[in-house]
Amino acid sequence: MTASKAVTAVAGTNIALVKYWGKRDVALNLPATGSLSLTLDRLGTRTTVVFDDGERDRLILDGAPAGDAETARVSAFLDRVRARAEIARRALVTTDNSVPTAAGLASSASGFAALALAAARAAGLALSPAELSALARVGSGSAARSIFGGFVEMARGERPDGSDAIAHALPEGDGWDVRLVVAITASGPKAMGSTAAMTHTARTSPFHDAWIASVPGDLAAARAAIAARDLPALGAVAERSALRMHAAAMAADPAIIYWNAATLAAIACVRALRAAGTPAFFTIDAGPHVKTLCHAADADAVAAALRAVPGVSDCLIAAPGPGARVVEAA
Ligand code: DP6
Repeated sequence: MTASKAVTAVAGTNIALVKYWGKRDVALNLPATGSLSLTLDRLGTRTTVVFDDGERDRLILDGAPAGDAETARVSAFLDRVRARAEIARRALVTTDNSVPTAAGLASSASGFAALALAAARAAGLALSPAELSALARVGSGSAARSIFGGFVEMARGERPDGSDAIAHALPEGDGWDVRLVVAITASGPKAMGSTAAMTHTARTSPFHDAWIASVPGDLAAARAAIAARDLPALGAVAERSALRMHAAAMAADPAIIYWNAATLAAIACVRALRAAGTPAFFTIDAGPHVKTLCHAADADAVAAALRAVPGVSDCLIAAPGPGARVVEAA
């Protein structure tokens, strides 16, 4: 069997401080609003792609053959890369997450960012970071942001083809010594995947339009807070963005509730830390885990407090990390 070059890329996941929750075009996966995130140095994905003479695409996920649904999603993504590179060969994709997928933290953000870069390069395409961001977005909206490191803003874009729905780095935030403390509050996969949940929210939640209308103001406030390195200002935006996103989802019919008892207890813990003088601010994604933004100097104390919360099984401290990169090509 002759094979193309095997290309390995790594990407860190990212946590949105201004959330993406809604699409303006489902087929091209175009977001209804912009979003803003921090790319992390831990909780990432390492993916190797090689195009060969296999009859179909194969996906090995964390050491075992992936299920049909996951393989089909990757295969559909590879079709876009193949069309662009004008090749027909199938691929072997080997991907490993740096946290167990079962923890419910494995992320499509780092997954599709690493896959976009490895697949494009293995197919012989030389794409710019902006082009990679647009490609990764088709796989998963949040993946467009993990192409870049540090603080990143994703544009909603206006064009119907999505060519301007891409992310860019916010260099004003470079070197700001913040941390995200990830409190794990459950094991197992999340209740409902974000793609289905955001569509359901848009269709049935009376709060959806108000949520969408609130995002541009939060983006402007977050940008200003990063430029001023004002953690309380950025944290206030992050908390209200997460709460409004979840409020919109909870108001859907039937309701989408990602939180468990430990989620609420962790929120209370973060608010208590803040009342006692530690600048710490929570955000929550499409799952029950609580991610807390704080200064690097406070991260150990924040993690210790969260570890003592009933139902919190573990805490990871993540620093800002670099964008997606190729680590091996042979
Ligand atoms: C709550 O990027 O996973 O994490 O584009 O449908 O794949 P798809 O959705 P995805 O949604 C992320 C939702 C979120 C908020 C965010 O990361 O901005």
